[in-house]
Amino acid sequence: MEIKAVAGDIIKAKAGAIIVTCYEGAKNLEGEAAAADKALGGALAGLIKEGGIKGKLNEINVLFSLGKLPAERVVIVGLGKKKELTVDKIRGAMAEACRYLRGKGVTDIASVTMGAGAADIKSDDAIKAMAEGATLGLYTFKRHMTKKEDDNKDIKTLTFYVENKARAEKAIDQAAIVAEAANWTRDLVNEPSNFKTPSHMAAAATQIARKYGLKVEIFEKGKIKEMGMGGLTGVSQGSQQPPKFIILTYTGRATSGLDIALVGKGITFDSGGISIKPSENMDEMKDDMSGGASVMATVMALAQLKPEINVTALVPATENMPSGTALKPGDIITAFNGKTIEVLNTDAEGRLILADALSYANKLGAKAIIDIATLTGACQVALGKICSGLFTNNQPLVDKIIAAGKAAGEPAWQLPMFEDYKEFIKSDIADIKNSSIRYGSAITAAKFLEEFVDKTPWVHLDLTGPISDKEKGYLVKGATGVPVRTLVNFVLAEAKK
Ligand code: BES
Ligand code: MN
Ligand code: ZN
Repeated sequence: MEIKAVAGDIIKAKAGAIIVTCYEGAKNLEGEAAAADKALGGALAGLIKEGGIKGKLNEINVLFSLGKLPAERVVIVGLGKKKELTVDKIRGAMAEACRYLRGKGVTDIASVTMGAGAADIKSDDAIKAMAEGATLGLYTFKRHMTKKEDDNKDIKTLTFYVENKARAEKAIDQAAIVAEAANWTRDLVNEPSNFKTPSHMAAAATQIARKYGLKVEIFEKGKIKEMGMGGLTGVSQGSQQPPKFIILTYTGRATSGLDIALVGKGITFDSGGISIKPSENMDEMKDDMSGGASVMATVMALAQLKPEINVTALVPATENMPSGTALKPGDIITAFNGKTIEVLNTDAEGRLILADALSYANKLGAKAIIDIATLTGACQVALGKICSGLFTNNQPLVDKIIAAGKAAGEPAWQLPMFEDYKEFIKSDIADIKNSSIRYGSAITAAKFLEEFVDKTPWVHLDLTGPISDKEKGYLVKGATGVPVRTLVNFVLAEAKK
């Protein structure tokens, strides 16, 4: 799909459909909607008056123009109450409208700038949100279906009618880079584990490195063990698939030094290991590498956006499987920083591989470390899938992540790191243990990770929504691509300082 900007009159657009908008509770149509209404002989205003069009958020109504306009259809999309409009609602509304029109076989669409004239919404942000919403909302994952759909039914062009073409084009380019990075993450997360081994993850990293000029390093099984990464070695030892430690580096400033390390959990399948999970919904554990995919996608986007900052993505990748060679409950392993860990539950494997990756990030001299991990079911219980959990040893840093997430429409909520929780990771026979009581286990998991970052400013994001159960706004059923857009926003803001 091509997304472009035109400075002109949408009423004259030749397209399968033109999208105009209206607000809930507004008596009069504004701008282009009013012009379209006039061309249609007052049909839109009439429907509003009679209550056929209410303007509720994501409400879609269609009128065929029957020759009164060059476009075949006029689609009027509700944006809800004008005062309550947000850029995230624009993202969602654009996605819903595009999916609706794709379903009707429309292949070229023209749209007004949604939310133009609404307070607090800058037109560049609105245009970005529209391009993101369309790109995310039209995403599909059909690779494994043998019956191929007709490509001719896909939307080919999306033309935004804007005030400032040059500025709009810039906003569209940026949005496309970020939304496509999120869709790249979705592809990898949706892939089943037999097509997504640690080796596949490493190959994907190598591929984007080559394409976008990133530096890539892959540590193999022997090297991982030799370096003393006992967490990754231990978790991987039950699997037939060799582990990989993936390092993907974006260098955006002339002087050396690592500004931000992004660490992502890369469990390509989490069976629980010897502490095996119940079989119900176990298939969902193919998404346990979402954090890893999201940090790789973030540096891929950075390579195209080119901010002046140095960022490295680190992904410890392995399966967590039961077998005769697997870690056993009670085993003691030694992490990269030398700390010993008593493994009481082999299903608390994420923190074991992150122990190595976080301490490695620290050794690289990162000024800040952000880790992304589908770490605990407890965090999903606490917050649901809408909102991720945040933990930190540095309040200013987490505040920036919260702000970046808000702008992306990827909400995250901070949970406490009180000292009292530390007793739950104390072991009788090693430095720390990987599991204890069920209550508050998202917090004890974070306290565990904290042991591996020393004093470096660090944020841990416990990802609750790597997968959506339903289609909603710009989310489709399956992988969400969260929190790629948050991470990109955060890094761009850091680079601007
Ligand atoms: N990958 C899971 C966390 C998870 C489970 C995320 C379900 C989303 C949905 C993680 O490795 C895990 O198994 N965590 C355990 C930890 C426990 C054994 C201390 C959990 O949260 O139950
Ligand atoms: Mn687990
Ligand atoms: Zn896991």
